[in-house]
Amino acid sequence: MSRAPLRVAVLGAGTVGREVVRSLIECGPDLVAADGAPFELVGIAVRDLGKARAAGLPAGLLTDAPAHLVADPDVDVIVELMGGDEPAHTLIAAALAAGKSVVSANKHVIAHHGPDLEATARRTGATLRFEAAVGGGIPVLGPLATDLAANRVISIRGIVNGTTNYILSAMADEGRDYGDVLAAAQAAGYAEADPSGDVEGHDAVNKLVILARLAFGIWLDPADVVITASADGPGAGRPGITGVSAADIATAAAGGRTVKLVAEARRAADGSIEASVLPTALASDSALARTAGVLNRIEVEAVPVGTVAFSGPGAGGAATSSAVLGDLIAISRELGSTWAGLPPAAAR
Ligand code: NAP
Ligand code: HSE
Repeated sequence: MSRAPLRVAVLGAGTVGREVVRSLIECGPDLVAADGAPFELVGIAVRDLGKARAAGLPAGLLTDAPAHLVADPDVDVIVELMGGDEPAHTLIAAALAAGKSVVSANKHVIAHHGPDLEATARRTGATLRFEAAVGGGIPVLGPLATDLAANRVISIRGIVNGTTNYILSAMADEGRDYGDVLAAAQAAGYAEADPSGDVEGHDAVNKLVILARLAFGIWLDPADVVITASADGPGAGRPGITGVSAADIATAAAGGRTVKLVAEARRAADGSIEASVLPTALASDSALARTAGVLNRIEVEAVPVGTVAFSGPGAGGAATSSAVLGDLIAISRELGSTWAGLPPAAAR
């Protein structure tokens, strides 16, 4: 028997949102799982209606009032792709409080408000999925929560920001200037609306907090993640890659090393989790060092599996839409939240 369609509203139709909307419009039947409901796109929220109409988005679905879509009883699923803290946080919280399913790619909101959002979702029985928040199109949160559920995770280490990896790669391989490459990363849709979050390491911190929630069962406080490079290594005591110079890259290369922004969370001997996002000179023949451009790579060391790695496109509209749509299909199959099956997280 065919199931009633899930009525989906998409909040935000920028780099990621427009790809999700396009797929929902063009590939509708292809997105229906054998044991899931089909989707009906019922609303799209943007700030600038004229710009959205000019971009070819269906005028009849557009609104500049995202809160109306969240409150609408004829909307079942909210897909939040606006970015930033507010109003995204309030909209997600309201949807979960009303028992609606939510898909979000917003690592800032998930990392900073995760404990409250998880508590609300567990209280109301609402589903919250956020695979796209880490690693763009790379499936990593789902495997951590499900396929690796039998493991005790020792560490997570990787490159989780496409913009900074794109910049460092171009500086190292092409000798290009930091400012020019950042502009190219913005034009390609990799950077956040405010790219300071990328280059200062905050975006990678948010992703590490989310990875740690699934790997270690705890919501770390983003403020506790170390982001300031040591004064005598690459990065000159500044946050993220903002202090990485052409000289740092050349010095590393002369020693057979490559500078990368490495995010790492590790179980310490006392059971606490130590977390950092730091520019690091890696052996150039290592898999992490060879992760170039917008690619991301996340290595998980766990018992009994050993070390497994996840790699692929870490940013970009099309790649990221894959993760968002995968979460939508999971909701249509009633598979629950990204943390489904894991115990509630320990408080911060
Ligand atoms: P974006 O290109 O800046 O698009 C944001 C969209 O949200 C625009 O359509 C914007 O409308 C709309 N919007 C913003 N504030 C709004 C408000 N108050 N009311 C209504 N509409 C609003 O952003 P993006 O790159 O697609 O990123 C979206 C989310 O995905 C972010 O959380 C980001 O961190 C995450 N993400 C992005 C990538 C990527 O590669 N880009 C990858 C993974 C995750 P207007 O255009 O009319 O202003
Ligand atoms: N700005 C982010 C990045 C987008 O460059 O990795 C993907 O999360």
